[in-house]
Amino acid sequence: MKSVKDINVRSKRVFVRVDYNVPLDEHLNITDDNRISATLDLIQYLLEQNAKIILASHLGRPNGKRDSKLSLAPVCKRLAELIRKEVLFADDCVGEKVSKMVAQLDDGQILLLENLRFHNEEKDNGEEFSKQLADLCDIYVNNAFAVSHRDQASVTGIPKFAAVSVPGFLLEKELQAYHDSVENPKKPLVAVIGGAKVSSKLAALENMLNFVDKLIIGGAMANTFLKSQGCDTKGSIIEKDLLSKARGIIEKAKEKNIELLLPVDLICGDKLDKHAEVKEVLLDEIPDRWMALDIGPKTVQIYARAIKDAKTIVWNGPMGVFEMEKFMSGTKAVANAIADSSAFSVVGGGDTVLAAKLCSVAEKVSYISTGGGAFLYLMEGRQLPGMVALK
Ligand code: 3PG
Repeated sequence: MKSVKDINVRSKRVFVRVDYNVPLDEHLNITDDNRISATLDLIQYLLEQNAKIILASHLGRPNGKRDSKLSLAPVCKRLAELIRKEVLFADDCVGEKVSKMVAQLDDGQILLLENLRFHNEEKDNGEEFSKQLADLCDIYVNNAFAVSHRDQASVTGIPKFAAVSVPGFLLEKELQAYHDSVENPKKPLVAVIGGAKVSSKLAALENMLNFVDKLIIGGAMANTFLKSQGCDTKGSIIEKDLLSKARGIIEKAKEKNIELLLPVDLICGDKLDKHAEVKEVLLDEIPDRWMALDIGPKTVQIYARAIKDAKTIVWNGPMGVFEMEKFMSGTKAVANAIADSSAFSVVGGGDTVLAAKLCSVAEKVSYISTGGGAFLYLMEGRQLPGMVALK
């Protein structure tokens, strides 16, 4: 497949789909601009080539209605600061006014369009809408890994109409990291999987048994696995309807000689609250009605040892309720073990990236993915629709 550098972009209208779905606080300040900075190399390259750059993104889920809280205006301001250049802003993404702004773009100018999802046709992948977007450009570039698992107009619709469609640097980089960590990893490959729900990661967990050497499970999802093995998890959150699936994953791992590690001790709280009473317990010592909210110190040691032996590590999901200091130690210890390892390590998923940052290891892992859902989609063994559309 051709790359941006294989085509002539000089003086061309280049439409770049980016994922600027960034977190905002109540005053509409951007609290993490990673997804913006991850696109700067491509924008810089296009500027050097004197392209006319049109950037488009979604922000949140406005359900087809204009919502000033989900405007990309704050993103426009931040991008201009980061790229140190004026970024023009269009208050819509299609229509006469937008076409006019695009027609008036000079070489080397940047225009950011307003939230694509202010139009229902974006989510519904409307043909007419896709065509209107495609008409704005000579070249379409998908640089939005994090939304490439969606079958939406600006992801899979535009390539049907654009004369030339290619992946951007970030999409290529993300797929390369996936290739190096999952498709062609240095062995042993250890996956560290946590988070609240087995249900959201079931397909990924099942597929992982096709490629991992060790599977480390933590977070509330570990409770369901423990329960499936007869542990009385007392008041812990579990997914009753997934007990047999969890059992099945454990059995399949055994059949395949994959070491599947579950907690051997836990940090429990009498409630899910930062003021909760806390106890370190073995699996058969959880007090009545208490809940497991983090992995315990013995588990940390076992997990850290497994991580130390890895040549490749994929981490998705925290080990406990890391947002509360009392239940952060398991996630922190695992994060440090990953950061200290010489393995190629990839971290994906919104919560996990936040945990890596809170534990100050973000700079020490090999690659931090900008994708949450898209990262899991790949882990499920599926091809990203956004990538397929480019082929
Ligand atoms: C994300 O944050 O995972 C992406 O921007 C996709 O957003 P979505 O789940 O609303 O499609």
